[in-house]
Amino acid sequence: MENKRKVSLSGIQPSGKITLGNYLGSIKNWVDIQDSDEYDNRYCVVDLHAITVRQDPDDLREQTYQLFAQLMAAGLDPDKCILFIQSHVQGHPELSWILSCFTMFGELSRMTQFKDKSQRHADNINAGLFTYPVLMAADILIYDADIIPVGEDQRQHVELARDIAIRFNNRFPGSFVVPEAYIPKEGAKIMSLQDPSRKMSKSDTNENSFILVMDPPEAIVKKMKRAVTDSDARVAASPDKPGVTNLMHIYAAATGKSFAEIEAEFEGKGYGVFKPAVADAVVELLRPLREKSLELLKDKAYLEDVMAKGAEKARAITDAKVRQIYDKLGFIARR
Ligand code: TYM
Repeated sequence: MENKRKVSLSGIQPSGKITLGNYLGSIKNWVDIQDSDEYDNRYCVVDLHAITVRQDPDDLREQTYQLFAQLMAAGLDPDKCILFIQSHVQGHPELSWILSCFTMFGELSRMTQFKDKSQRHADNINAGLFTYPVLMAADILIYDADIIPVGEDQRQHVELARDIAIRFNNRFPGSFVVPEAYIPKEGAKIMSLQDPSRKMSKSDTNENSFILVMDPPEAIVKKMKRAVTDSDARVAASPDKPGVTNLMHIYAAATGKSFAEIEAEFEGKGYGVFKPAVADAVVELLRPLREKSLELLKDKAYLEDVMAKGAEKARAITDAKVRQIYDKLGFIARR
């Protein structure tokens, strides 16, 4: 394995429209990692994960096309990375079963996302919601991924994937690369614009709390204007100014400027100047993505073609890996 390039892998759920948080916390970094040309890249739309909460089938199909188009519009290039739909690559659920036999009930019970989601969907605490992190571990381990670019909220799941890999390797040495979370310095946890103590999330009932990647410029400007800030009008980051600090994180992630540079830029200027500047930076960041994805969505046959080619490349890796693991476990080789 020594001469192999390191592998970057990540996934995103098609369970609704994606937010600025998804973009800054993950997708933007996938594109940067791909363009750095230092890694082999594999990125997927995780539709199998999405059905752990009830989805309308027509909506799910449409959202999957949209998300796939947005990933391409954001800069993921099917010639430079393997871009695919999770359910097209059957090795993922196959390995997930194997790994579930190496994951402890207690470990899964401690997952904060499981606890949150079972509160929010108390009428449907299904086994898939519980074993969700095992399927995620399979997504990761099946490619021997080294780095997993995700936002802060996925750190615990990546840690679990590490623990599963280590446990499996103890029993069957050298089976999997032990992955590491790759969490950006800026944008790892974008907070709600209405309540900066909570993560920006598309499932929030207040539409002013999140910015969608597909929001038109007017909507972005309006939501930014309404974003909660703090009583004193200084543009400075501190724990007692969570609203303005969050906007600074957004501005920093969107422009690449440091906090010191931002504080200097808005010294003595107040929110009346700062908020429109953040809105502008976000509008310009998302504009090409929005325009390009609308363009791509006009040709679904082309998108399906890209999906099929991606899945084919992915299966070449995963089929071999599953065979190797089955053999270690003592299964008779399938022909
Ligand atoms: P998902 O679909 O909820 O979110 C996709 C990515 O967006 C990040 N993210 C955020 N980052 C910063 N600020 C926010 N407010 C914010 N909200 C979301 C998430 O951290 C994530 O990186 N379980 C995963 C999907 C998955 C996966 C994988 C990821 C399935 N298999 C394998 C990595 C590797 C999830 O539900 O992400």
